[in-house]
Amino acid sequence: MGVGYSCCQSNAIGPALDERFSGKRVVITGATSGIGLRLAKRLAASGAEVVGWGRNEDAMEDVHREASEKGWSLRMMRCDVSSREEIQERAAEVLAAFEGAVDILVNNAGVTSGGKWITDLSDEEINRCVDVNLLAHFWTVRAFLPSMIKRDSGHVVTVSSVAGIMGVAGLSDYCASKFGAFGLTESLRFELSKINSAVGTTIVCPSYVDNGMGKEAEVKCSALFPLMDEEYVVRRIMGAVARRQALVILPGTIRTTYLARMYPVSVYDRIVRTWANV
Ligand SMILES: NC(=O)c1ccc[n+]([C@@H]2O[C@H](COP(=O)([O-])OP(=O)(O)OC[C@H]3O[C@@H](n4cnc5c(N)ncnc54)[C@H](OP(=O)(O)O)[C@@H]3O)[C@@H](O)[C@H]2O)c1
Repeated sequence: MGVGYSCCQSNAIGPALDERFSGKRVVITGATSGIGLRLAKRLAASGAEVVGWGRNEDAMEDVHREASEKGWSLRMMRCDVSSREEIQERAAEVLAAFEGAVDILVNNAGVTSGGKWITDLSDEEINRCVDVNLLAHFWTVRAFLPSMIKRDSGHVVTVSSVAGIMGVAGLSDYCASKFGAFGLTESLRFELSKINSAVGTTIVCPSYVDNGMGKEAEVKCSALFPLMDEEYVVRRIMGAVARRQALVILPGTIRTTYLARMYPVSVYDRIVRTWANV
Protein backbone atom coordinates (compact mmCIF):
# COMPACT_ATOMS: atom_id res chain seq x y z
CA MET A 1 0.00 0.00 0.00
CA GLY A 2 1.41 3.39 -0.95
CA VAL A 3 2.07 5.75 1.89
CA GLY A 4 0.93 9.35 1.94
CA TYR A 5 -0.94 9.46 -1.35
CA SER A 6 -3.92 7.17 -1.66
CA CYS A 7 -6.90 7.54 -3.97
CA CYS A 8 -9.03 8.76 -1.06
CA GLN A 9 -6.94 11.93 -0.93
CA SER A 10 -7.68 12.87 -4.52
CA ASN A 11 -10.77 14.79 -3.45
CA ALA A 12 -10.20 17.37 -6.19
CA ILE A 13 -11.56 14.74 -8.56
CA GLY A 14 -15.33 14.50 -8.40
CA PRO A 15 -17.45 11.34 -8.59
CA ALA A 16 -18.72 12.34 -12.06
CA LEU A 17 -15.21 11.88 -13.46
CA ASP A 18 -15.88 8.38 -14.82
CA GLU A 19 -18.89 9.58 -16.83
CA ARG A 20 -16.66 11.95 -18.80
CA PHE A 21 -14.98 8.97 -20.46
CA SER A 22 -18.06 7.06 -21.52
CA GLY A 23 -17.90 6.33 -25.26
CA LYS A 24 -14.35 7.68 -25.66
CA ARG A 25 -12.05 5.64 -27.87
CA VAL A 26 -8.74 5.16 -26.10
CA VAL A 27 -5.38 3.58 -26.94
CA ILE A 28 -3.01 2.82 -24.06
CA THR A 29 0.50 1.48 -24.60
CA GLY A 30 1.90 -0.79 -21.89
CA ALA A 31 -1.53 -1.90 -20.71
CA THR A 32 -0.61 -5.40 -19.52
CA SER A 33 0.46 -4.35 -16.03
CA GLY A 34 0.86 -1.49 -13.57
CA ILE A 35 -0.49 1.98 -14.28
CA GLY A 36 -1.48 1.15 -17.88
CA LEU A 37 -3.50 -1.92 -16.91
CA ARG A 38 -5.28 -0.13 -14.07
CA LEU A 39 -6.06 2.86 -16.30
CA ALA A 40 -7.33 0.57 -19.08
CA LYS A 41 -9.69 -1.23 -16.69
CA ARG A 42 -10.86 1.97 -15.01
CA LEU A 43 -11.65 3.61 -18.37
CA ALA A 44 -13.35 0.49 -19.71
CA ALA A 45 -15.45 0.30 -16.54
CA SER A 46 -16.41 3.95 -17.21
CA GLY A 47 -17.82 3.00 -20.60
CA ALA A 48 -14.82 3.90 -22.77
CA GLU A 49 -13.80 1.72 -25.72
CA VAL A 50 -10.24 0.80 -24.87
CA VAL A 51 -7.45 -0.82 -26.85
CA GLY A 52 -4.41 -1.80 -24.79
CA TRP A 53 -1.02 -2.62 -26.25
CA GLY A 54 1.67 -4.84 -24.75
CA ARG A 55 3.60 -8.07 -25.27
CA ASN A 56 2.69 -10.33 -22.34
CA GLU A 57 0.24 -12.83 -23.86
CA ASP A 58 -0.83 -14.36 -20.52
CA ALA A 59 -1.67 -10.94 -19.10
CA MET A 60 -3.64 -10.11 -22.24
CA GLU A 61 -5.67 -13.30 -21.95
CA ASP A 62 -6.49 -12.47 -18.30
CA VAL A 63 -7.65 -9.01 -19.33
CA HIS A 64 -9.85 -10.39 -22.11
CA ARG A 65 -11.42 -12.86 -19.67
CA GLU A 66 -12.17 -10.14 -17.10
CA ALA A 67 -13.44 -7.74 -19.78
CA SER A 68 -15.86 -10.31 -21.15
CA GLU A 69 -17.10 -11.19 -17.63
CA LYS A 70 -17.68 -7.52 -16.86
CA GLY A 71 -19.02 -6.54 -20.26
CA TRP A 72 -16.25 -3.99 -20.89
CA SER A 73 -15.09 -2.84 -24.29
CA LEU A 74 -11.42 -3.58 -23.65
CA ARG A 75 -9.34 -5.27 -26.29
CA MET A 76 -5.66 -6.09 -25.96
CA MET A 77 -3.35 -6.15 -28.98
CA ARG A 78 0.18 -7.48 -29.14
CA CYS A 79 2.44 -4.58 -30.02
CA ASP A 80 6.12 -4.29 -29.24
CA VAL A 81 6.51 -0.52 -29.12
CA SER A 82 10.26 -0.75 -29.66
CA SER A 83 9.38 -1.54 -33.28
CA ARG A 84 8.28 1.38 -35.44
CA GLU A 85 6.85 -0.99 -38.06
CA GLU A 86 4.75 -2.85 -35.47
CA ILE A 87 3.38 0.44 -34.08
CA GLN A 88 2.45 1.61 -37.57
CA GLU A 89 0.71 -1.68 -38.39
CA ARG A 90 -1.23 -1.86 -35.09
CA ALA A 91 -2.14 1.84 -35.30
CA ALA A 92 -3.62 1.31 -38.77
CA GLU A 93 -5.69 -1.58 -37.40
CA VAL A 94 -6.91 0.52 -34.47
CA LEU A 95 -7.82 3.45 -36.71
CA ALA A 96 -9.76 1.11 -39.01
CA ALA A 97 -11.60 -0.42 -36.03
CA PHE A 98 -12.42 3.02 -34.59
CA GLU A 99 -13.41 4.45 -37.99
CA GLY A 100 -10.46 6.81 -37.97
CA ALA A 101 -11.20 8.41 -34.61
CA VAL A 102 -9.08 7.85 -31.52
CA ASP A 103 -10.05 10.28 -28.75
CA ILE A 104 -7.26 9.62 -26.26
CA LEU A 105 -3.76 8.25 -26.80
CA VAL A 106 -1.87 7.30 -23.62
CA ASN A 107 1.83 6.71 -24.17
CA ASN A 108 2.53 4.74 -21.01
CA ALA A 109 4.79 1.77 -21.88
CA GLY A 110 8.12 2.11 -20.12
CA VAL A 111 11.21 0.17 -19.12
CA THR A 112 14.23 0.69 -16.88
CA SER A 113 17.61 -0.98 -16.99
CA GLY A 114 17.73 -1.59 -13.25
CA GLY A 115 19.80 1.32 -11.96
CA LYS A 116 23.07 0.76 -13.82
CA TRP A 117 25.74 3.42 -14.20
CA ILE A 118 26.26 4.71 -17.73
CA THR A 119 29.48 2.75 -18.24
CA ASP A 120 27.85 -0.51 -17.08
CA LEU A 121 24.84 -0.30 -19.43
CA SER A 122 25.02 -2.48 -22.52
CA ASP A 123 24.43 -0.84 -25.90
CA GLU A 124 21.27 -2.96 -26.20
CA GLU A 125 19.90 -1.70 -22.87
CA ILE A 126 20.41 1.92 -23.90
CA ASN A 127 18.74 1.32 -27.27
CA ARG A 128 15.78 -0.51 -25.69
CA CYS A 129 15.19 2.24 -23.14
CA VAL A 130 15.25 5.00 -25.74
CA ASP A 131 13.18 2.98 -28.23
CA VAL A 132 10.40 2.17 -25.72
CA ASN A 133 10.38 5.29 -23.52
CA LEU A 134 10.98 7.91 -26.19
CA LEU A 135 11.01 6.91 -29.86
CA ALA A 136 7.74 4.96 -29.53
CA HIS A 137 6.05 8.27 -28.64
CA PHE A 138 7.07 9.72 -32.00
CA TRP A 139 5.61 6.76 -33.90
CA THR A 140 2.31 6.65 -31.97
CA VAL A 141 1.81 10.41 -32.09
CA ARG A 142 2.59 10.51 -35.81
CA ALA A 143 0.12 7.66 -36.36
CA PHE A 144 -2.82 9.02 -34.33
CA LEU A 145 -2.39 12.81 -34.22
CA PRO A 146 -3.29 13.65 -37.87
CA SER A 147 -6.83 12.29 -37.45
CA MET A 148 -7.18 14.15 -34.12
CA ILE A 149 -6.10 17.39 -35.77
CA LYS A 150 -8.47 16.77 -38.67
CA ARG A 151 -11.40 16.29 -36.26
CA ASP A 152 -10.07 19.11 -34.02
CA SER A 153 -10.58 16.83 -31.05
CA GLY A 154 -8.44 14.46 -29.00
CA HIS A 155 -5.91 14.19 -26.23
CA VAL A 156 -2.35 12.84 -25.99
CA VAL A 157 -1.11 11.70 -22.59
CA THR A 158 2.60 11.17 -22.00
CA VAL A 159 3.61 9.20 -18.95
CA SER A 160 7.05 10.65 -18.27
CA SER A 161 8.43 10.60 -14.72
CA VAL A 162 10.05 12.71 -12.05
CA ALA A 163 13.14 11.30 -13.76
CA GLY A 164 11.95 13.39 -16.73
CA ILE A 165 12.56 16.63 -14.83
CA MET A 166 15.66 15.77 -12.79
CA GLY A 167 18.73 13.66 -13.48
CA VAL A 168 19.40 10.67 -11.23
CA ALA A 169 22.66 8.73 -10.79
CA GLY A 170 22.24 5.21 -12.16
CA LEU A 171 19.31 6.18 -14.40
CA SER A 172 21.02 7.99 -17.29
CA ASP A 173 19.21 6.02 -20.00
CA TYR A 174 15.85 6.26 -18.23
CA CYS A 175 16.22 9.98 -17.42
CA ALA A 176 17.37 10.82 -20.95
CA SER A 177 14.36 9.02 -22.41
CA LYS A 178 11.89 10.57 -19.95
CA PHE A 179 13.32 14.11 -20.40
CA GLY A 180 12.92 13.44 -24.14
CA ALA A 181 9.30 12.37 -23.79
CA PHE A 182 8.66 15.52 -21.76
CA GLY A 183 10.30 17.71 -24.41
CA LEU A 184 8.44 16.01 -27.24
CA THR A 185 5.09 16.62 -25.59
CA GLU A 186 5.85 20.21 -24.58
CA SER A 187 6.88 20.95 -28.18
CA LEU A 188 3.71 19.25 -29.40
CA ARG A 189 1.67 21.47 -27.09
CA PHE A 190 3.19 24.57 -28.70
CA GLU A 191 2.73 23.19 -32.21
CA LEU A 192 -0.97 22.55 -31.47
CA SER A 193 -1.34 26.01 -30.03
CA LYS A 194 0.19 27.58 -33.16
CA ILE A 195 -2.59 26.04 -35.26
CA ASN A 196 -5.28 26.81 -32.62
CA SER A 197 -6.02 23.12 -32.36
CA ALA A 198 -8.42 21.85 -29.71
CA VAL A 199 -6.31 18.69 -29.32
CA GLY A 200 -4.98 18.58 -25.75
CA THR A 201 -1.83 17.18 -24.18
CA THR A 202 -0.94 16.05 -20.67
CA ILE A 203 2.53 15.23 -19.36
CA VAL A 204 2.48 13.07 -16.24
CA CYS A 205 5.55 13.00 -14.01
CA PRO A 206 4.99 10.57 -11.16
CA SER A 207 7.46 9.92 -8.43
CA TYR A 208 7.59 6.37 -7.04
CA VAL A 209 4.44 4.32 -7.50
CA ASP A 210 3.65 1.40 -5.23
CA ASN A 211 4.05 -1.28 -7.93
CA GLY A 212 6.80 -3.37 -9.49
CA MET A 213 8.80 -0.56 -11.07
CA GLY A 214 8.42 1.88 -8.17
CA LYS A 215 9.26 -0.61 -5.45
CA GLU A 216 12.59 -1.35 -7.13
CA ALA A 217 13.65 2.25 -6.56
CA GLU A 218 15.60 3.35 -3.51
CA VAL A 219 13.54 5.94 -1.66
CA LYS A 220 15.55 8.02 0.78
CA CYS A 221 13.13 10.76 1.72
CA SER A 222 9.54 9.64 2.10
CA ALA A 223 8.29 13.20 2.69
CA LEU A 224 9.36 14.43 -0.75
CA PHE A 225 9.14 11.07 -2.53
CA PRO A 226 6.40 8.98 -0.93
CA LEU A 227 5.36 5.73 -2.55
CA MET A 228 2.04 6.57 -4.19
CA ASP A 229 -0.96 4.34 -4.69
CA GLU A 230 -1.33 3.26 -8.32
CA GLU A 231 -5.05 4.05 -8.10
CA TYR A 232 -4.26 7.60 -6.98
CA VAL A 233 -2.00 8.10 -10.01
CA VAL A 234 -4.64 6.73 -12.38
CA ARG A 235 -7.32 9.02 -10.95
CA ARG A 236 -4.99 12.00 -11.31
CA ILE A 237 -4.33 11.09 -14.96
CA MET A 238 -8.07 10.86 -15.65
CA GLY A 239 -8.69 14.12 -13.82
CA ALA A 240 -5.97 15.84 -15.87
CA VAL A 241 -7.45 14.66 -19.16
CA ALA A 242 -10.95 15.71 -18.10
CA ARG A 243 -9.70 19.16 -17.06
CA ARG A 244 -7.21 19.44 -19.95
CA GLN A 245 -4.37 19.92 -17.49
CA ALA A 246 -1.07 20.09 -19.39
CA LEU A 247 1.30 18.98 -16.62
CA VAL A 248 0.84 16.74 -13.61
CA ILE A 249 3.76 16.32 -11.22
CA LEU A 250 3.06 13.74 -8.52
CA PRO A 251 3.28 14.44 -5.69
CA GLY A 252 3.14 18.24 -5.96
CA THR A 253 6.00 18.62 -3.47
CA ILE A 254 8.38 17.61 -6.29
CA ARG A 255 7.73 21.01 -7.83
CA THR A 256 10.26 22.33 -5.29
CA THR A 257 12.98 20.85 -7.51
CA TYR A 258 11.91 23.38 -10.19
CA LEU A 259 12.39 26.19 -7.70
CA ALA A 260 15.76 24.75 -6.68
CA ARG A 261 16.92 25.19 -10.29
CA MET A 262 16.93 28.96 -9.76
CA TYR A 263 20.00 28.50 -7.55
CA PRO A 264 23.58 27.94 -8.78
CA VAL A 265 24.19 24.31 -9.82
CA SER A 266 26.32 23.62 -6.74
CA VAL A 267 23.40 24.61 -4.50
CA TYR A 268 20.84 22.76 -6.65
CA ASP A 269 22.99 19.63 -6.50
CA ARG A 270 23.28 19.85 -2.72
CA ILE A 271 19.51 20.29 -2.34
CA VAL A 272 18.50 17.40 -4.56
CA ARG A 273 21.26 15.10 -3.25
CA THR A 274 20.00 15.72 0.27
CA TRP A 275 16.29 15.53 -0.42
CA ALA A 276 16.02 13.21 -3.35
CA ASN A 277 18.93 10.79 -3.01
CA VAL A 278 19.97 11.32 -6.63
N1 LIG B 1 6.31 2.73 -11.10
C1 LIG B 1 6.88 3.91 -10.88
O1 LIG B 1 7.35 4.20 -9.77
C2 LIG B 1 6.93 4.94 -11.98
C3 LIG B 1 7.35 6.23 -11.65
C4 LIG B 1 7.40 7.19 -12.65
C5 LIG B 1 7.04 6.88 -13.95
N2 LIG B 1 6.65 5.61 -14.24
C6 LIG B 1 6.30 5.32 -15.64
O2 LIG B 1 4.98 4.84 -15.69
C7 LIG B 1 4.81 4.00 -16.83
C8 LIG B 1 4.14 2.71 -16.40
O3 LIG B 1 5.02 2.03 -15.51
P1 LIG B 1 4.51 0.99 -14.42
O4 LIG B 1 4.95 1.46 -13.14
O5 LIG B 1 3.08 0.69 -14.61
O6 LIG B 1 5.43 -0.26 -14.84
P2 LIG B 1 5.11 -1.74 -15.33
O7 LIG B 1 4.08 -2.38 -14.46
O8 LIG B 1 6.44 -2.40 -15.48
O9 LIG B 1 4.44 -1.54 -16.77
C9 LIG B 1 5.18 -1.29 -17.90
C10 LIG B 1 4.32 -1.59 -19.12
O10 LIG B 1 5.10 -1.27 -20.28
C11 LIG B 1 4.96 -2.34 -21.19
N3 LIG B 1 6.12 -2.47 -22.06
C12 LIG B 1 7.43 -2.53 -21.73
N4 LIG B 1 8.17 -2.72 -22.83
C13 LIG B 1 7.31 -2.77 -23.88
C14 LIG B 1 7.46 -2.96 -25.28
N5 LIG B 1 8.67 -3.12 -25.85
N6 LIG B 1 6.34 -2.96 -26.04
C15 LIG B 1 5.13 -2.81 -25.49
N7 LIG B 1 4.91 -2.63 -24.18
C16 LIG B 1 6.00 -2.63 -23.39
C17 LIG B 1 4.78 -3.59 -20.34
O11 LIG B 1 4.08 -4.55 -21.10
P3 LIG B 1 4.69 -5.97 -21.60
O12 LIG B 1 5.50 -6.51 -20.49
O13 LIG B 1 3.46 -6.77 -21.92
O14 LIG B 1 5.49 -5.66 -22.81
C18 LIG B 1 3.91 -3.06 -19.22
O15 LIG B 1 2.55 -3.16 -19.57
C19 LIG B 1 6.22 3.80 -17.41
O16 LIG B 1 6.40 4.66 -18.51
C20 LIG B 1 7.13 4.21 -16.28
O17 LIG B 1 8.38 4.67 -16.75
C21 LIG B 1 6.58 4.63 -13.30
